[in-house]
Amino acid sequence: MSTSRSAELQLWGRPPHAAAKHSLLRAYLGAWFPIIAKYNRRVIYYDAFAGPGEYSNGNPRYPGSPIIALDTLLGHDYLPNMSGTEFLFLFNEKDPACGANLARLVAEMKANTPPGRRMSRWASRTRPFIEVTGEMLDDLDGRNARLAPTFSFVDPAASKPPRCRSSLA
Ligand SMILES: C[S@@+](CC[C@H](N)C(=O)[O-])C[C@H]1O[C@@H](n2cnc3c(N)ncnc32)[C@H](O)[C@@H]1O
Repeated sequence: MSTSRSAELQLWGRPPHAAAKHSLLRAYLGAWFPIIAKYNRRVIYYDAFAGPGEYSNGNPRYPGSPIIALDTLLGHDYLPNMSGTEFLFLFNEKDPACGANLARLVAEMKANTPPGRRMSRWASRTRPFIEVTGEMLDDLDGRNARLAPTFSFVDPAASKPPRCRSSLA
């Protein structure tokens, strides 16, 4: 995999193992969202190594994990029954060009989603995983708050393994 390290976006092709990973992600979230929403008023999907949101191959281009997660919820048959739950999607991607491309795709999705199905909030960050995750946990500690049920997708793949603080482990 080659990722852009400059302001210039350089998408990469979706390899077969990523297609398998995405099938699992879609199937898992499709089952997890309704179950977890039944018992919780707030649910978080945290994509810590979110990528650019699409691949260079496929027609239309294959979607990346953040788009798959959003699409799984917003297109879910059971969505009307989950109206009592707020879904927060947090996407983090260190590379600025990948992050900007992802933000564009998410904004397009938002614009194309009927108001009745917009029962979620989306936020994005363009920083190293360890900083964003560390700050989130410090914030919770500082407020003595409990983290809402969270699906954390930590998918660094070809990048260096993330440094994990003991509290993250
Ligand atoms: C395997 S790709 C993510 C693919 C994406 N999860 C998907 O399935 O579509 C890994 C991404 O992590 C980003 N990345 C690398 N190091 C990072 C770090 N320390 N913090 C956040 N993102 C990082 C890379 O720029 C790359 O876009």
